[in-house]
Amino acid sequence: MAIPLLIDTDPGIDDALALLLAFASPEVSVEAITTVAGNVPVERCTANVCRVLEVLKLSRQPLVAQGASKPLVRSLVSAGHVHGEDGLGDLHRFSDADGSPRYPPVEPRLAPGDGPDLILECAARFDGELVVVALGPLTNLALALQRDSRRLASIRRLVVMGGAVACPGNVTPVAEFNFYVDPEAAARVLQAGLPLELIPLDVTRQTVLSRSALDGSLAACPGPIAQFVSDFTLKGFAFGADSGEGGLTLHDPLALAVALDPSLVSSEALHVAVECGGSLTRGMAVADRRPLPAQHKRPPNCRVAMSVDACRFLALFLDRLCRASR
Ligand code: RIB
Ligand code: CA
Repeated sequence: MAIPLLIDTDPGIDDALALLLAFASPEVSVEAITTVAGNVPVERCTANVCRVLEVLKLSRQPLVAQGASKPLVRSLVSAGHVHGEDGLGDLHRFSDADGSPRYPPVEPRLAPGDGPDLILECAARFDGELVVVALGPLTNLALALQRDSRRLASIRRLVVMGGAVACPGNVTPVAEFNFYVDPEAAARVLQAGLPLELIPLDVTRQTVLSRSALDGSLAACPGPIAQFVSDFTLKGFAFGADSGEGGLTLHDPLALAVALDPSLVSSEALHVAVECGGSLTRGMAVADRRPLPAQHKRPPNCRVAMSVDACRFLALFLDRLCRASR
């Protein structure tokens, strides 16, 4: 039986690649997608999810619900400079041979209720079996906790892309973007006792996709999906070249891949807290890695991926992306 999956996301170029990976993976059944403000305003995130679904032309559509338009208590900090103002590499730039827009607007078809409602509804429907993959700020998960923590606690796994544990951040010297945008939400989710697996920059930074590897893979499966991937990743590769990352860092696809195959990473059980008060340290993931006896530290509240089989992951990603593109 395919594992029921809910993806909470702020697409976002790497989020969109994670969505394509999920739909190309027989191990899982994407039952629902919830959007959250992050890389771009939530309305654009929702439009981008609908764009991916439109391009994929799936026979069975997941439920889609729009979530939080801003963090719990702070104003939104977004990342249009990384993902494009539309969140998918500024797709309006692309036209077909006849000059018509290659990506005309898509009419969103949304489930009733908002993102946190859909998360709780799926937790109930797939009681004990639902795997949630969170690829953006944790605002929707925190709101779902506020509404019905007992129901949310019934999920099988919560795989979170976020944090920087023993490496620098990507928004400040110490903070990763998803935790920086909504540190209060990240703090609440981490201390809620959920079966949380954290996929931080410590491992995602080791999974950088080169343009040549992507082009080589897509050349084997030409068509509208391959064209879409080539178009929406263009700005991501430009950012990667400018920022010295050397390619497109697959933060969210790695988190999604761990939901498919946990053996891709090695993890440590750690207590992780999130800094909410500091001006210099807002959003910092503070992991207790001191070599002390367990009784002298707070008990672990998550498992943190600290090493990754990057080659095996990249091979899986490209193989599945090609499958998605057929
Ligand atoms: O720090 C990387 C994370 O922030 C990724 O999820 C990316 O999509 C952005 O949301
Ligand atoms: Ca994301």
